[in-house]
Amino acid sequence: MVAMHIDILTLFPDSINAVMGESILGRAQKNDIIRIEAHQIRSYTKNRQMQVDDYPYGGGQGMLMQVQPLYDCWADVCRQAGRRLHTVFLSAAGRRFTQADAIRLKDEHERFILVCGHYEGVDERFIEECVDEEISVGDFVLTGGELPAMTVADAVCRLVPGVLADPSCFRDESHYSGLLEYPQYSRPENWHDMHVPPVLLSGNHGAIARWRRKEALRRTLLRRPDMLERFTPDKRDRQLLDELRAELGDGEAAD
Ligand SMILES: C[S@@+](CC[C@H](N)C(=O)[O-])C[C@H]1O[C@@H](n2cnc3c(N)ncnc32)[C@H](O)[C@@H]1O
Repeated sequence: MVAMHIDILTLFPDSINAVMGESILGRAQKNDIIRIEAHQIRSYTKNRQMQVDDYPYGGGQGMLMQVQPLYDCWADVCRQAGRRLHTVFLSAAGRRFTQADAIRLKDEHERFILVCGHYEGVDERFIEECVDEEISVGDFVLTGGELPAMTVADAVCRLVPGVLADPSCFRDESHYSGLLEYPQYSRPENWHDMHVPPVLLSGNHGAIARWRRKEALRRTLLRRPDMLERFTPDKRDRQLLDELRAELGDGEAAD
């Protein structure tokens, strides 16, 4: 059995398979660590034209995904799983997705469903009956839920043990512990007259760890002071923040 199984209900399974079958997630699927399965909603229509959309009651622009094919697709996936699966609808009107949601979905569900809307969205009765939570990937509107669903699936799957080489790969990253990640460099040491910070070449692991922590705090302070308000610094962090505020002066370091 795989460690994480995500079912994506979509009108465009090929686009999901093309992206999710590549690189790290593609390899993890080949190694049976995770499974990302795209299901074609259109296969569940009962009309000859295989139409999945219709006009919204009350009038207005655009078409809406009808409840019947969507529900039958969802029910079939739950039947295959042998139980009602936790179901997420990707929606511009949903709660904004964060790293904490990725961790929660990974911890609480070994299998769940992502539903992609299209056109003007889906019949509200499907949401009322089948959906446990609505997630938005940001305050903007896309043409379909495929990119948001792949965003959520990617963020969740890379946290599954065995998908990345080492858990420190994601633990040090932006958002995992409430800070943005420090800047990183690779070869060459000098490029366009820009030099790699000397401490990173020193071989002094203590000094490197201190520099990285300070730069993570600097970035967060300058770019995302809202994140720093929710962050609980330890003694060393407080000292580094004092140093940064002294270096930056009152104007630059937003409090
Ligand atoms: C054109 S949008 C529909 C927007 C909808 N009429 C509204 O105003 O909220 C079509 C589909 O794309 C997906 N979508 C668009 N923007 C999204 C976002 N920011 N986050 C998650 N899903 C989104 C949803 O599945 C949605 O049903």
